[in-house]
Amino acid sequence: MIDTRPIGMFDSGVGGLTVLKEVRKQNPKENIIYLGDTKRFPYGSKSKESIIELTKKGIDFLLEKNVKAIVIACGTATSQALEEMQKQYPLPIIGIMDSTVQYIKKKKTLRQIGVIATTGTIRSKGWENKLHRQIPEANILNKACPLLAPMAEEGWTENKIAKLTVQEYLKEFQNIDCLILGCTHYPLFKKCIQEELGEKVEIINTGEKLAKDMKKILKTQQIQNESNHQGNYEIYLTDTETNFISVASKLLKDKEIEQKIKKADLE
Ligand code: DGL
Repeated sequence: MIDTRPIGMFDSGVGGLTVLKEVRKQNPKENIIYLGDTKRFPYGSKSKESIIELTKKGIDFLLEKNVKAIVIACGTATSQALEEMQKQYPLPIIGIMDSTVQYIKKKKTLRQIGVIATTGTIRSKGWENKLHRQIPEANILNKACPLLAPMAEEGWTENKIAKLTVQEYLKEFQNIDCLILGCTHYPLFKKCIQEELGEKVEIINTGEKLAKDMKKILKTQQIQNESNHQGNYEIYLTDTETNFISVASKLLKDKEIEQKIKKADLE
């Protein structure tokens, strides 16, 4: 199938780019339109009602761009708005949780599970409920880390402050087999986190797991792009007065990223 329509992806800021990066790695021919709602960042401290409203606006914007599927590349929006969105819209909408839950379920050595995410995600009990439903014997330790996403937006992911903050947040995570990075901003701290927990703990980047499933979903839905061209991506931001460009160009190793960024209006 040669369906050149883009995949739409959405987050409050740079975090979802960690998902975009993995999706592009696994699906290099796909075109992607990314929306970062930088004007309303952070999502992690907002109510469920606000998250549903903002997610709807994001999806409506992406639909106008003629996307064939949507990835909610945000843990906060996945945990609180995904089910509602899947009921309301006819196209495939994928969140960041299911692929990771299935991965852990299959890997029987991972039963002491740590989850770090935003305050909203932890409050929603989204990970706990999904993991317990699929893996009743799992022990889950949760922690909200509200400072990490703003630090990631600032590009503070490998400095002293990042190390100390990660250390403080993770001090209770002594006996876990794996740690789910339940907010898509957190893979930016992977180096610090791995150093803190040691090599024995598997750090799970949800984008990586989602990207593999994405391939299957596109194929099953018969909307994959099997053309001979490399896929492209475009980024829309609701506010451009941010550090987004420098963090994004470093993460995606793209020096020309500025030309791919446009202003979006969700009103
Ligand atoms: N990247 C987001 C998440 O995965 C949102 C962080 C925020 O806006 O607070 O939860």
